[in-house]
Amino acid sequence: MTSDFAIKIEQWYLQHKRNLPWRETTDPYYIWLSEIILQQTRVEQGRAYYERFVRTFPTVQELASASEESVLLLWQGLGYYSRARNLHKAAKQIADLGRFPSDFKSILSLPGVGPYTAAAIASFAFGQPYAVLDGNVFRVLSRYFAIDTPIDSTEGKKEFTALAGDLLDKKSPALYNQAIMDFGAMVCKPVGADCGVCPLCDGCLAYAQSQVQSLPVKGKKTEQRTRHFSYVYLCTDKEEVLLRRRTGNDIWCGLYEFPLVESEAELPLSALQQRFPQGRWTLLRKGFVHQLTHQRLVVNFYRLQLPLKDTSLPGIWVKEPELQNYAMPQLLVKLTDLCL
Ligand code: ADE
Repeated sequence: MTSDFAIKIEQWYLQHKRNLPWRETTDPYYIWLSEIILQQTRVEQGRAYYERFVRTFPTVQELASASEESVLLLWQGLGYYSRARNLHKAAKQIADLGRFPSDFKSILSLPGVGPYTAAAIASFAFGQPYAVLDGNVFRVLSRYFAIDTPIDSTEGKKEFTALAGDLLDKKSPALYNQAIMDFGAMVCKPVGADCGVCPLCDGCLAYAQSQVQSLPVKGKKTEQRTRHFSYVYLCTDKEEVLLRRRTGNDIWCGLYEFPLVESEAELPLSALQQRFPQGRWTLLRKGFVHQLTHQRLVVNFYRLQLPLKDTSLPGIWVKEPELQNYAMPQLLVKLTDLCL
């Protein structure tokens, strides 16, 4: 039996749904692409990225045969670049397989695909009865049923997963899943929920108990780490710039950046100068704060001009107008826009 809850949400959706390009298709490749992008950004910005990806890589084979660098460049600005690397890795697996996997376990085993994305693909592309559980769904369910179990606890995940599965409209899983996500995004919003127009208001326990604003509950406070970066825009009189590709198990792996010195505390210019050849130094920006999910970067940005390129330095020398062909962290795109 389809629950009253599901019927009301679906009715609301059919009247109010947004027309979004990934809703016009059941092709699992496009759906997967859209879901990975939408984990990183809001629908409006996501749409532009989605359209660029689809235009550049119309098939999963084309994405698979692209270079990792070109995928990172297209992803630039979305942040969390391991998602782009996983996207590329998964595309290669799918291309090798010859088709997009259609059973839930195989979908879930793709790099970068968690339970949410697997449920979205299984339901939207293949009509299978898997309930999505994203931030929107957590919010709607926690409020409607007034559940104060922290949504980021093991217990909370179990409880909400079970509830979401019970409520799912097994006859129309795609419709129901889209509906509850849109409902969360457009009516049952994080702040300023539109309870006045909500079709579920009558049965909503949080509304009855004036708890809408205090739900859902999140347990953990995420640890914030502060890091001090000195970036050096190292250039020559001939408008060449030194770039380095990041490696290792840290933020921005695979992206290009200017020479960087990281330190425990803000580094004085004199200490920085010892690490570079002699040239003309300019402090372009001091104490620029760039907030990532769990890290606060405090950045000093310098320019160091040399008469000629010094080929003994690690990295590659690039002509200034060609910088845009290299995938770089948004921080550096911002700093160069602001300062140069
Ligand atoms: N957010 C995540 N997935 C979405 C989808 N398919 N439609 C709208 N918003 C979304």
